[in-house]
Amino acid sequence: MDLPLYRTKGRALGVVFEHMNVLGATASAGGILDLPSLILKVTKYPVELVLSTFSNRSVSSKHIVQDISGVLFPGETMLVLGRPGSGCSTVLKALANNHAPFVEVQGRISYGNISSDEMARSFCSETVYAGEDDIHFPTLSTKNTVEFGYTLRKPATQKQSDSRFAAEQTQNMLSSLGIAHTKDTVVGDAFIRGVSGGERKRITLAEALSINSAYGSWDNPIRGLDSSSATQFLRLLKNISRQTGMSNCVSLYQASETMYQECFDRVMVLYDGQMIFCGKADEAKEYFENLGFECLGRQTTPDFLTAVTSPLERRIRPGYQSVPQDAESMAKAFRNSENYRRLNNDIASYYGQVAENVEYTQSFKEESQRIRSKLAVAKAIAPRSIFKQTYSAAIRYYQLLWGGSSYILHGPRFQCN
Ligand SMILES: Nc1ncnc2c1ncn2[C@@H]1O[C@H](COP(=O)(O)OP(=O)(O)O)[C@@H](O)[C@H]1O
Ligand SMILES: [Mg+2]
Repeated sequence: MDLPLYRTKGRALGVVFEHMNVLGATASAGGILDLPSLILKVTKYPVELVLSTFSNRSVSSKHIVQDISGVLFPGETMLVLGRPGSGCSTVLKALANNHAPFVEVQGRISYGNISSDEMARSFCSETVYAGEDDIHFPTLSTKNTVEFGYTLRKPATQKQSDSRFAAEQTQNMLSSLGIAHTKDTVVGDAFIRGVSGGERKRITLAEALSINSAYGSWDNPIRGLDSSSATQFLRLLKNISRQTGMSNCVSLYQASETMYQECFDRVMVLYDGQMIFCGKADEAKEYFENLGFECLGRQTTPDFLTAVTSPLERRIRPGYQSVPQDAESMAKAFRNSENYRRLNNDIASYYGQVAENVEYTQSFKEESQRIRSKLAVAKAIAPRSIFKQTYSAAIRYYQLLWGGSSYILHGPRFQCN
């Protein structure tokens, strides 16, 4: 089957990131203000004002992840592992240039030789973060949901009519993800019956894939999927990366050995916001075994890599003394390792081969420009003209009204048995 792609050129950029720190707001800085926290805030204000004037660090922020470095060459896919709360989503958002949720993202992030600032300014639809939650209009059908994305993304150079382009691409994408049979079913949610949870997840993935971007972050994209659909999606991502040069980062909580071996070139392991490994996927297990951790017979490699960050699950190999066990000393051990030296060599060769090679960046910029309509607003995310966008949004509005009214007429359909 053909890959669900309409754009194969100009997507090979990769990404490099060095000494990335992400700072988030502390609890006191955000959230809903109730009366006690309001009083506390007013009382603390003079102290905070003095601190923020005389120190160069904001008092209300904290490090979510620290000193994260790595590289993804064009066409590579990286797995980000860690226990929940270790900072996987934060790294994925930062790499997808989605910095809005954070107080600050420090360090260097470049896509080819395009800085993250330039990427955000001029090519913000080229870096995509596909979140863990499936947020859709519940009364729209799968087909209408996915077609809307394709209508907005149709390249200016594409000669097909909008409806034909969107219908063909949608059919191809839904078939690739194994959900073609749901095309006329409403998406649904907790209150409206629609497609199943796993199918809804694949609709989210279809929407994100329909962008045909240069970089993608996928936050636990296999949540709710059976193992064969999960492997099918990861293989699809790998094949798209190979064919187009797109680079991808994926976080997973339940990865099988097959997924790990077949679908990932690199792996990053996070422990309480610290990077304790980043490098080639086939070197990670050996690195932790040499450090003194034991991979149990029943453990898959991703299980083992996550288990080393859990005091209850990790096992120390017999005879090994003073094995680093807290996040900080494990991060330090990695920075002193041969693997870290290799990572730095990879980063240096990325700058030499990709960032300083004008071909990659030029072909990316030309392609992004070529697919844009001449009437598109310079900063608009979608490449279509404002008229086409308004027209597509109006159609979607009527689809929503129609879906909503038929839902009101027929009422909610709960399964009683
Ligand atoms: N925007 C933010 N501001 C402040 N703290 C945050 C923010 N995002 C995440 N955190 C906190 O940082 C930690 C790591 O979050 P996250 O990256 O979502 O972890 P994971 O995806 O590994 O579960 C959590 O303790 C979370 O509460
Ligand atoms: Mg997360």
